[in-house]
Amino acid sequence: MNVDWKEIEQFARILLQEAAKNIKSSLYDSITINTKSNENDLVTNKDEEIEKFFYEKIKKKFPNHYLLGEEGKGDDLDQVTGVVWILDPIDGTMNFVHQKRNFMISLGIYENGIGKMGFIMDVIHNELYFAKKGEGAYLNDLEITPLKNVVLEEAIVAVNAIWLTKNRYLNHEKLSNLVRKVRGSRSYGSAAMEMVYVAMGRIDAYITPRLSPWDFAAGKIIVEELGGICTSLKNESLSILKKSSVLISNASIHEELLTDYIEFLQK
Ligand code: IPD
Ligand code: CA
Ligand code: CA
Ligand code: CA
Repeated sequence: MNVDWKEIEQFARILLQEAAKNIKSSLYDSITINTKSNENDLVTNKDEEIEKFFYEKIKKKFPNHYLLGEEGKGDDLDQVTGVVWILDPIDGTMNFVHQKRNFMISLGIYENGIGKMGFIMDVIHNELYFAKKGEGAYLNDLEITPLKNVVLEEAIVAVNAIWLTKNRYLNHEKLSNLVRKVRGSRSYGSAAMEMVYVAMGRIDAYITPRLSPWDFAAGKIIVEELGGICTSLKNESLSILKKSSVLISNASIHEELLTDYIEFLQK
């Protein structure tokens, strides 16, 4: 298949701008909020509308491309041959509902399972993070500089406080040692935001036991383009068709985190 990546990039940018404009202009309209797997797992009519918008536009422009999306409005995929757009229409839905900020549109475009372009749109700040594999990463028009080494004592790590309490995924005592060791800890409630913050060097690692492909598809491409590392909590590479634990970090601390502070308790 002959793929025109410039055309795809330009089209993705147009869709992201339109979607962001739509979300912003209706931010204070009443929304319908439903729950999914549990009462804190929220979804709104906006999540669904934005995903549907992408699906319809992409299918019309590129009928042979696929879309994998969180809200099930896209294709039902069990393989990754061809060009696959992986979309989280709103990453950080709880933030969207409660805070009206700190949520992202996350879009990764893959060809035969290989990440080609990652876009993370901070809707409220009008900031588009973008990377094209092998060709650099940008925040709007500014090229982002590759990551510099850090030491753990001066690092900031993102981890949800829930994982510092006894749980079935992570050894919480080891993780507590990490939180004591580093300079600071944060939790933003949007995986895409936390990943792109690692890419920017605003934080140095993000540790989480369970993400879906649409949560990490774009972030992985951006972080790797800047020299960061993205694996599971067991140091495996990530598949874009499977849920996984995720450790995304500055390369200089990745091994130390895995060896001394992270014990993933699941198979
Ligand atoms: C969620 C957010 C959250 C992470 C969850 C994700 P959603 O995505 O990224 O930070 O901890 O695992 O499911 O549902 O808001 O798109
Ligand atoms: Ca969700
Ligand atoms: Ca998400
Ligand atoms: Ca979402």
